[in-house]
Amino acid sequence: MGSHTENHTEKALPALLQRADGLARARLSDRRYTHTLGVADTAERLAKLHGLPPQKTRLAALLHDVSRESGPDELLQSAGRYGIKPDEFARESPIMLHGPVAAEEARRELGIQDPEVLGAIRIHTTGAPEIGSVALAVYVADKIEPGRDYPSVEKLRELAARDLYEAATSILRATESHNEDQGRPTHPDSRRMLAWLEAREAG
Ligand SMILES: [Fe+2]
Ligand SMILES: [Fe+2]
Repeated sequence: MGSHTENHTEKALPALLQRADGLARARLSDRRYTHTLGVADTAERLAKLHGLPPQKTRLAALLHDVSRESGPDELLQSAGRYGIKPDEFARESPIMLHGPVAAEEARRELGIQDPEVLGAIRIHTTGAPEIGSVALAVYVADKIEPGRDYPSVEKLRELAARDLYEAATSILRATESHNEDQGRPTHPDSRRMLAWLEAREAG
């Protein structure tokens, strides 16, 4: 699935994985820490299946939700401090900022600079068009980790083992139709990601 950036992160990975786990443990409730470990194990397994760097993928997964339990005011304040501009969706629901804020904290607190890791954390809530494969593995793992239980999850697990792009397409189609049923708009990045995946499949 293409080449991956190599930088100092590679050598520091085992230590970083430990610190990332510690940060997630310190920041999160038992329930969400368990979710995080589920995502980390699933993302790492998907990475191995699909020829992606497993440790880097695990690192992003361990950190993806570290800001998920910050309150709306705290997220807005952190975003302001970090120069993250909330879009219309994030102004309405500041929890949408937990990915971008977590990516910035991974950079500041753990010194992570790898763009694939930071990008995967940043966009894990909405997805993004032209998503990188590490980010794709984390995005899909977030929806199918062992703690997830909804009617189509078993099918998605099988799909993800075969093809991450098809799994993401299926997830996004379900998200879009769920939002439609609820009369809610789908985030433009999610819509653009789905359009990108569909064009990719057709091409
Ligand atoms: Fe999240
Ligand atoms: Fe999550």
